[in-house]
Amino acid sequence: MSKTIIISNRLPLQLEINNNSITAIPSVGGLATGMKSVHSGSDSIWVGWSGLTDENLDSKSEILVKNALKKHQCVGVSLTEAEVDGFYYGFSNNALWPLFHYFMEYTSFEKETWETYQSVNQKFADVVIDNLEEGDSIWVHDYQLLLLPEMIRKKKPDVTIGFFLHIPFPSYEVFRTIPCREALLKGMLGADLIGFHTYDYERHFLSSTQRILGHEINFNNVHFDNRIVKVDSFPMGIDYDKFHDAAQHHNDKEKKEKTEIQQEIDKHLTGGNKAKLILSIDRLDYTKGIANRLRAFEYFLDKYPQFKGKARLVMLAVPSRSDVPQYQILKNEIDQLVGRINGKFAEVSWTPIWYFYRSMPFENLIDLYTSSEVALLTPIRDGMNLVAKEYIASRVDKKGVLILSEMTGASKEMSEALIINPNNFEEIADTIKMALEMPEEEQIKRNTALQKRLKRYNVEKWANDFMEALEGTQATLKKFSLK
Ligand code: ADP
Ligand code: G6P
Repeated sequence: MSKTIIISNRLPLQLEINNNSITAIPSVGGLATGMKSVHSGSDSIWVGWSGLTDENLDSKSEILVKNALKKHQCVGVSLTEAEVDGFYYGFSNNALWPLFHYFMEYTSFEKETWETYQSVNQKFADVVIDNLEEGDSIWVHDYQLLLLPEMIRKKKPDVTIGFFLHIPFPSYEVFRTIPCREALLKGMLGADLIGFHTYDYERHFLSSTQRILGHEINFNNVHFDNRIVKVDSFPMGIDYDKFHDAAQHHNDKEKKEKTEIQQEIDKHLTGGNKAKLILSIDRLDYTKGIANRLRAFEYFLDKYPQFKGKARLVMLAVPSRSDVPQYQILKNEIDQLVGRINGKFAEVSWTPIWYFYRSMPFENLIDLYTSSEVALLTPIRDGMNLVAKEYIASRVDKKGVLILSEMTGASKEMSEALIINPNNFEEIADTIKMALEMPEEEQIKRNTALQKRLKRYNVEKWANDFMEALEGTQATLKKFSLK
């Protein structure tokens, strides 16, 4: 029976090895959480890196790893420490990630990491081909594997390949600065269908393809070498029911069933101490605008002192890519900012910022989504931002206000949120005030519209739309006898 092979660098679970035993922890990040719902319950297999390096493993633990992955229908691509350094920390996260998010000053192009990126993409291609059977479709994900579609196509010219980019595709003027620009575009064009979250990213890709490779573009089809590659936008949704049902269940819980965090929150939400919660959740990443958010919150407390003791920022930052220098610098900056702002405003009964630097189980995320009157998400650039969608899906009573950066893909579909420019502190401060004072009827009106859309365009619909469009490319090719 034919199957779909999903391929991404990060698998839905990360393995850790302690005293010869393997533990699996869920991966954080939109790609993993979103695709997990698509993968589970289907007969697809998922090829990716387990998070361990060859140096961590001996022949015995290798078998344990293989079995642990197999239980989740996953197949591992084994990487050495040097490969992880060059491919993951190096080229993927020190060149492509900053460049595609318009952080050109953080972008460093190095010949060695580019070479490792190519050889690791080839390693992924070899594993995929080993697992490929007649009739299978291939779905490649994200910037770590831009070369993979072409590498697979070279060995298997007739296989159906889809590619989806989970981050922005930058404008031509930015993309053209990367030395290996032709190779990256050609790599992606090995696919039959290339998907982006928004129409703007799609447009940027088509313009780069036309100007750099000189290929003919006909509507959203790229024509070259007797092939047609379709390019389209598919805004990724979330597993709406999972968040909505978990929030409903959370609200129905008896006191004794509540998590420690929830009990702590409840304590602060009762009596004279009641401070409204403003939530922020992200991986600790410079693209997320966390430092701006803190400065804007400080400015808000200075500008509107009547909210001292009445509002609190709950900031959850998940450790991410901590071997990349920019992430270490950011961590220090945030630690200092939180310390300074708390030192400046704290009172005996009120601290303005609760800061957690860790990953949290799903249950705690739901605690935070359901307990916060406002969500403040201020990325400088973000391909989509699923947290915005998860917050709205978790608001079972339809109350709560979402403040969302206009630089996120999600803002294109969530116009009922309060949309801000993450660089405009004045606007953010005024919008926080507006959110805290918004009448309940207005909150309900906005969230009703948002929830309806998110429920309809959920992650399942997103995956189905993509796969249908991918099948459609085969029908078109057969019609024009191009394959
Ligand atoms: P990105 O993919 O850039 O990390 P998204 O907002 O699209 O950003 O996705 C983040 C995902 O990671 C969400 O699905 C969210 O639920 C999950 N997540 C974020 N913070 C945490 C955390 N502290 N613990 C567990 N999961 C988290
Ligand atoms: C974003 C990227 C994903 C990545 C995730 C977490 O969502 O689009 O490809 O997996 O961040 O980052 P990490 O580097 O930990 O995989």
